[in-house]
Amino acid sequence: MILDGKALSKKILEEIKIEVAKLEKKPHLVVILVGDDPASKIYVRNKKKTALEIGINSTVIEFPADVEENVLINKIQELNNDESVTGILVQMPLPKHIDKDNVVCAIDPKKDVDCFTPENVGKLALGMKPYFYPVTPQGILIMLDYYNIPIEGKNVVVIGRSNIVGKPMAQMLLQRNATVTMCHSHTKNLDDIIKTADIIISAVGKKVVRCKMVKYKSVLVDVGISRDTNGKLTGDLNFSDFKDINEILDFVEAFSPVPGGVGPMTIVSLMLNSLLSVKHTCILSSIAKSCFK
Ligand code: GUN
Repeated sequence: MILDGKALSKKILEEIKIEVAKLEKKPHLVVILVGDDPASKIYVRNKKKTALEIGINSTVIEFPADVEENVLINKIQELNNDESVTGILVQMPLPKHIDKDNVVCAIDPKKDVDCFTPENVGKLALGMKPYFYPVTPQGILIMLDYYNIPIEGKNVVVIGRSNIVGKPMAQMLLQRNATVTMCHSHTKNLDDIIKTADIIISAVGKKVVRCKMVKYKSVLVDVGISRDTNGKLTGDLNFSDFKDINEILDFVEAFSPVPGGVGPMTIVSLMLNSLLSVKHTCILSSIAKSCFK
């Protein structure tokens, strides 16, 4: 089975569009983009385009790569206090001279649609409810649930320990009663660990998973994005041991491809968080608030 994030994302976006249309106050997502990183520019453009298509207001604020940290922090504080703004996202990576932790800490947790702030990340780690769940892990879980892939009690191997994907993914899987193993660049015997996995979630950006090494009928979720020698977008899974797609589909239970798997689900997840941001930031009567329960 192919986990078709593209098709599923279309369905969910339609549903979000209907919900947004019902709201008196529309979500307003502000994205801060610093510098000229080409990949970041594409991501930000896609986020804004998707938001506008489903009725979510979206503004991109651009700063030059040499912007001073305090200018960025002042802008975030201004957005925190601006009642017309419901969600704030600072596109990563930031230039080296800026301390990203200072920037992230400036974001109001109630507008932190990325789940980057210590308050939201801390709540996630404690098993408490953050204002928002991190977008990529949330998108992956929505996709696994949609395709009826059980998580409770499963051996899940997460490869990559980033703050954006690997670490929060592990927290959310633990919350769902999976047995989680975290692997990273210093992990010894990765192949042996991969063999134990019912579900593999790889977020590295290199071809680290040779799919002949995985357990028969395991579920593979590819979160890696890199370019192959021909400049084509590719993921972390190396399927070169297989003859064709049919052989792959016979061997694995399911896999999510790159592109068309986790990528579109991440954007959907951000749109869900943007919808939710209205609830956290809007001064509503208790009757109106109950509509979001
Ligand atoms: N850069 C790569 N992925 C992300 C993401 O999910 N959020 C932000 N803010 N920056 C990113």
